[in-house]
Amino acid sequence: MYTLGIETSCDETACAVLKGGDQVLANVISSSLIHHRPFGGVVPEIASRHCLEAIDVVYERTLRKARLKPKQIDLIAVTQGPGLIGSVFVGVSFAKALSFALDIPLIGVNHIEAHLEANFIGQKKPRTFIGLIASGGHTTLLRYEKDRYRLLGETVDDAIGEAYDKVAKILNLGYPGGPVIDRLAQSGNPKSFSFTKPKQDGEFDFSFSGIKTAVLNLVERNPLTPTLSPFRGRGKGEGEFVQDLCASFQMHVMNWIVQKTFLACEEQKVRCIVVGGGVSANSKLRSLLSEEAELRGIQWFLPPLELTTDNAAMIARLGYAQFKQGRRSDFTMAANPSLKIGGEINGRH
Ligand code: KG4
Ligand code: ZN
Repeated sequence: MYTLGIETSCDETACAVLKGGDQVLANVISSSLIHHRPFGGVVPEIASRHCLEAIDVVYERTLRKARLKPKQIDLIAVTQGPGLIGSVFVGVSFAKALSFALDIPLIGVNHIEAHLEANFIGQKKPRTFIGLIASGGHTTLLRYEKDRYRLLGETVDDAIGEAYDKVAKILNLGYPGGPVIDRLAQSGNPKSFSFTKPKQDGEFDFSFSGIKTAVLNLVERNPLTPTLSPFRGRGKGEGEFVQDLCASFQMHVMNWIVQKTFLACEEQKVRCIVVGGGVSANSKLRSLLSEEAELRGIQWFLPPLELTTDNAAMIARLGYAQFKQGRRSDFTMAANPSLKIGGEINGRH
């Protein structure tokens, strides 16, 4: 069975073909990232226009790579949400048109759920796990059991990836901030600066806006920072300051989310963790989580690096799994920018 995945939730336009549930035949991504850089974040209008312009080419290239004719596709899986409305709309419209023209079944899936599903291409999906979503738009802890998700907690303000992007902006390191901060942190001293953990009402909630302000204060107070805008850490002292700040910031936020994830395991009596989202590429998150899991004898899943960012292979995988369970969508399916995980399921416990 061949599943075509279509993903256009944000600044990427992606298509993939999955054979069965485990073999990725093609995984093509076109990113509009370069056009957002001057603005320090994703501009929704630019993102959706790029999706519209790129979708035909990406689709055709994907089929060519997979050596398939359109009629050979058995199922079309598409991101229904959450995401930027204009971008999601492009993918959903394209998928519906294709499904109609080729008379192929269609299934709309949740982008966030798909980030976790990326771990199960070629792997057996565990029956119960704690899911951690860490991306530019989400920081969420979930419990998965018997094909249902339950929300345990989430960020009350910025997402963790957003915090990386904002800290990078303060340090004038460009966009996106995650990869560059991750790299600089490796040469810095993580004990140079300490940050406080804000209190949240929910035991498994997060907040990242305070630490961003703390970083801004440290930068403004640093005598090596003449003005913020040209600050790049060029001089030796400046370079060390930036590296130490990146290392301390990274250690603080990653320790925090890893600790909360293991606390969720303890409280929920679950012995498996699954991580997904763009921030799951982070080297500190990957090492802290895997080392701690080994120590505690807890099973863990981290996606392969190429499947951490937005891609359509994860969409195809989730669509395939749900189709096997008897789910499918019809042409009334609409792009939903605030689609909840598990659709209507979302009780907080
Ligand atoms: O999941 P994603 O591709 O897009 C969303 O759906 O949000 O995540 C993008 C986010 C960006 O904020 C980026 O800075 C962050 O993931 N990111 C990282 C790393 N690589 C990407 N954050 C920390 N460390 C990384 N190595
Ligand atoms: Zn994403």
